[in-house]
Amino acid sequence: MDNIFKVAPSILSADFCNLQRDLELVSNSDFVHIDVMDYHFVPNLTIGEPVVERIIEVVNDINEKNANNCELLTDVHLMIEDPDRWAENYAKMGASSVTFHYRAAAAPVRLARRLRELGSRAAVSLRPAESAHGIIEVLDEFDMILVMTVEPGFGGQKFLESQMSKIRFLREAVEKLEPNKRPILQVDGGVSRTTVQLVAASGADATVAGSAVYGAQDPREEVEVIRNLGAKAFTENWGRL
Ligand code: DX5
Ligand code: ZN
Repeated sequence: MDNIFKVAPSILSADFCNLQRDLELVSNSDFVHIDVMDYHFVPNLTIGEPVVERIIEVVNDINEKNANNCELLTDVHLMIEDPDRWAENYAKMGASSVTFHYRAAAAPVRLARRLRELGSRAAVSLRPAESAHGIIEVLDEFDMILVMTVEPGFGGQKFLESQMSKIRFLREAVEKLEPNKRPILQVDGGVSRTTVQLVAASGADATVAGSAVYGAQDPREEVEVIRNLGAKAFTENWGRL
């Protein structure tokens, strides 16, 4: 978690019948990104509470055995309606971080506070057509902001460069906060070794990567490549002396 630039492989691109193997494959990552979809908020359906609960247990086992001594965190990306009602269940089952969509929540700040109270990190996500102005006054209520660089619902879509101005705007606002109150700025969708430099130079310090990691010949190595390229571009543009 101390890496300058963090990488979160999305298991949407993993083999759902070999999840344990595919989680172990990326144990050098910062987060495991778990996409929960409900057929309503997005036109796709993935996994829900029982499967996520088991994934968290398996990741905890991996951490116990992890020779590198680095902790793999779990982030549940909820692409569901009514997160005010459902999100806390994921915090209660031990997710390190729960990400909900800003526009799906009736009371985003109340929900973020509830998630933190339950011991989880709280994160909020913006779809490509949603502006960051709605959250700018309450950035410190969140541990992470997730800027979607595709319309949520599916892996393997084309990266939307239009989102870079939103990331820059958010980075400038985040930098004005006290260091211990700064949320991570993460992007999700279409990020690979060819697009990561642009997102990091724009101000993101974390990225999700689904097809880029699991589609690579060596997913472990791909995590390192994306992390190093991101760290270099972020430091060059936003590094502090
Ligand atoms: C899309 C999901 C993403 C997806 C990213 O709705 O939220 O996390 O898995 O996949 P790639 O990296 O392939 O765009
Ligand atoms: Zn996602």
